[in-house]
Amino acid sequence: MRIGLVGVGRIGVFHAATLKALPAVDQLVVADADTGRAELVAKDQDVEFAPDVEALLASGLDGFVIAAATTAHADLIAAGVAAGVPTFCEKPVAIDLAETLRVVKLVEGSDVPVHIGFQRRFDAGYQAAAAQVRSGELGFIHHIRANTNDAFPPAKEYIPTSGGFFRDCTVHDFDIIRYVTGREVVSVFATGANRGESFFSDYGDVDAAAALLTLDDNTFVAVSGTRYNAAGHDVRMEILGSLGSVAVGLDEHTALRSAEAGVTFPGGPSHPTFMDRFRPAYVAELTAFTEVVAGTREVPCTVRDAYQAFRTADACELSRRENRVVALDEIA
Ligand SMILES: NC(=O)c1ccc[n+]([C@@H]2O[C@H](COP(=O)([O-])OP(=O)(O)OC[C@H]3O[C@@H](n4cnc5c(N)ncnc54)[C@H](O)[C@@H]3O)[C@@H](O)[C@H]2O)c1
Repeated sequence: MRIGLVGVGRIGVFHAATLKALPAVDQLVVADADTGRAELVAKDQDVEFAPDVEALLASGLDGFVIAAATTAHADLIAAGVAAGVPTFCEKPVAIDLAETLRVVKLVEGSDVPVHIGFQRRFDAGYQAAAAQVRSGELGFIHHIRANTNDAFPPAKEYIPTSGGFFRDCTVHDFDIIRYVTGREVVSVFATGANRGESFFSDYGDVDAAAALLTLDDNTFVAVSGTRYNAAGHDVRMEILGSLGSVAVGLDEHTALRSAEAGVTFPGGPSHPTFMDRFRPAYVAELTAFTEVVAGTREVPCTVRDAYQAFRTADACELSRRENRVVALDEIA
């Protein structure tokens, strides 16, 4: 199949290499608002280049992959749907909730499949944990702890188009909490601070945050994250149930050292970036998208799923700004 990829920045280049290596992909063509960059990446990866997104969509695509900046997602999804091409878009769907809802309505009113990129759904650990929660073998779940700690912050230029910490970073936790538990968030209390470089607060953002979520079955979820965790890219989830408890992301590569004498676990090197931590999940995710394109699989993460995660992110942002508990019913 012929796949078009728009946006070849940090994750776009990584997706280009993954897509090119997939057996289902015969041809890959890339574009970017920065045409020079797209040309360079095309040469580097030995794939085709399109001068703009119109030319890309007019080039006979079977599938369209969006890895451009968040501010461009809504219009690019709309362009993919208008062209009738099955579309994959990196999270989030749009920069704000109103735009996200506009895209949800557009996509749900069409028959073009649109798959949103929350890659943790394709991580073997999260999948195993979800299966154990759903089977009942952990009993009732009383508490969950989830964290997303980046080893180092993104470029300053990334922050104003990111949507802010909860919508850009913690939104992954909000999606995977729904996926693992099958429950919805009913209320949040969140806080955050700028502890590192000051460009975060220049854009009204934070680089460290925490939130307490209450799910609709009274499971309490403590979520935390930072842009400054030199120990490594650390994404984990602990699920504590009445009959058993499991941890996702707890292995030799966990970016943590024991303070107890003689304990050497975890002993391996930690993951420096999200690309190292989730490489197999990104491959599985884009393989799933080729199956969506081929018509052999339902969309595994819909715009409606992404909207629900984004509502929680919005509720956390409001809670942080107003220093109060926010009910999800307050959000759209
Ligand atoms: N799922 C994940 O784990 C994950 C990880 C990182 C980034 N992301 C998402 O991927 C997206 C890109 O992030 P990044 O870190 O690669 O950003 P980046 O800034 O490195 O790259 C963005 C690219 O998009 C291009 N671009 C911007 N507007 C465009 C437009 N209208 N048309 C075509 N190209 C356009 C830019 O020129 C740039 O090359 C973001 O939405 C981010 O949330 C997801």
